[in-house]
Amino acid sequence: MQKRVKWSKNMEVGYEPLDKAHKDFIKIVNEAYVYSASKELSSMDNVFEKCYDYARNHFPEEENIMKQVGFPDMPAHEKSHHAFIKNISGLRVNFHKATTKFEKEKVSTEAADFLQAWFLGHTLSRDKIYKPYLVRLKNK
Ligand SMILES: [Fe+2]
Ligand SMILES: [Fe+2]
Repeated sequence: MQKRVKWSKNMEVGYEPLDKAHKDFIKIVNEAYVYSASKELSSMDNVFEKCYDYARNHFPEEENIMKQVGFPDMPAHEKSHHAFIKNISGLRVNFHKATTKFEKEKVSTEAADFLQAWFLGHTLSRDKIYKPYLVRLKNK
């Protein structure tokens, strides 16, 4: 199973509002890990809600900035954001559909694994690709 994620300076994209959102996302990733491991499953619902809030606020902000700086891979990046929402929605549906504690635990672990994989594969990889373009941001 995964370990908790810790923020470090080399994770920064160098634009405060985006870095703050990414730091907040780490908290969600870690909460999912703690709740699924400690079997505090009632709190998982709250994790799903936080994921939606994160997606609702952060993704449009990031997409808007990518447009502003003319980031060429923006359409693919946007698709990746949509895939996150789809995955989280699917996991949440499965969580609610689960009738036994065992099933709920299984989905919770899947969600925690998914969030951590997303953090590594998207936030720390894909989001870093637009970093060099942020020098084009006016009034940074
Ligand atoms: Fe991001
Ligand atoms: Fe992103």
